[in-house]
Amino acid sequence: MYERRAVSSRLLDGARDLAFRHTFQGLFVYNILFEDSEVDEEILALDEGSDVLAISGAGCGVAAMVSRSPRSITAIDLNGHHLALAALKAEAPRTLGRFGTFYDLLGRGWHAAPRPLLARITRDLPTWIDAHWREHHGVFRRGLYGAGLTSAMLGAFRRLSGVDESWLRWASTLDAERRAHAVETTLGPLLRSPLSRAWMSSPAQLVTLGINFAQRDRLLATEQRADMADYVVEHLKRLATTDVGTNWFIWYAIAGQFDHERADAVPPYLRRDRFEAARTARTRMRYERVNVLDALDRAPRRAYSHYAFLDAADWLDAPTQRRLLDGVLRTARDGARVVTRTVEDECMVERAGLRSRLRRLDDVSERASRADRTRQYRHVHVYEVSA
Ligand SMILES: C[S@@+](CC[C@H](N)C(=O)[O-])C[C@H]1O[C@@H](n2cnc3c(N)ncnc32)[C@H](O)[C@@H]1O
Repeated sequence: MYERRAVSSRLLDGARDLAFRHTFQGLFVYNILFEDSEVDEEILALDEGSDVLAISGAGCGVAAMVSRSPRSITAIDLNGHHLALAALKAEAPRTLGRFGTFYDLLGRGWHAAPRPLLARITRDLPTWIDAHWREHHGVFRRGLYGAGLTSAMLGAFRRLSGVDESWLRWASTLDAERRAHAVETTLGPLLRSPLSRAWMSSPAQLVTLGINFAQRDRLLATEQRADMADYVVEHLKRLATTDVGTNWFIWYAIAGQFDHERADAVPPYLRRDRFEAARTARTRMRYERVNVLDALDRAPRRAYSHYAFLDAADWLDAPTQRRLLDGVLRTARDGARVVTRTVEDECMVERAGLRSRLRRLDDVSERASRADRTRQYRHVHVYEVSA
């Protein structure tokens, strides 16, 4: 009886997340990557012999990788909107000669006549990417950083709460403790109101945050929070204790744009030195709209030296996480590095009993977990493969 109930509840969970994935993959959700790609630059330590398999999300991480000139990057994502944006970010330095044009397009997210510029960037890319930007070039005339579901949600949040760039400048004059207190008093009551609680727990809001049901359950259990509204308030307080000056995630959320006055307050790929390095990179890029599991199934043995999976494993149940890790072990070179982020304390490698084949680099992982300025993940795990 209990067993039958457990099986049907697993089936139900699987069906919810399948529906989530189908909805999510057709929508433009994010325009930035919510992971600290400056941290990843250090832990991946790419060089000219590297071959990377990376889930792109909105592409800030993949674009930063190009400046290290790895031999190849296979950028994949289930979501065509995100992968097409990632392709622009990664390819623009090699096709747009001037840093100013590049920064206006992708740093400010705006251009008066984007169509010819985008056509130049996408000319040699897969035809679906070219077609995507022919259809969606208007995003850059209206402003990239106002587009996508997450930006729309943050825009509504700013209007309702009254927080904006001047509030942020004021908050950055406070010490970390007072900033966290300001978040609690200014934003706590709004976020914990009954209406907000209902919205925050809705499937639509999960899509907007890019958190599926499996990841939501892991997150609430680990953080011991009653609901997503409680979690979001605590998360914002954690963010408030970081260096607000260089934390581009805070600027993006509160000011609706990056701080263009500080070169170290934007994602690394938008910095002039990375742009110059990426311009001459000879990296072979591939863009594939596929499930990471299928990408691994198709890849030959010893294909990759680096894997960057974002937090996508949190979207998977335990048997599918095992399939992901088996795919890594089959396609990895000896000594390959794997980077994943997770909202839980349990680790999928241990759960799968694969610790001897995927050795966690504890020092590197702990440092990266502390440094990630999104404060969204319990752990950044870095593993080294014994092939
Ligand atoms: C896991 S989501 C979550 C948000 C992420 N932490 C970020 O900062 O953007 C990031 C991206 O992973 C992609 N993704 C999720 N599961 C995937 C899978 N099995 N294969 C390929 N891409 C996947 C989503 O389409 C999305 O673009």
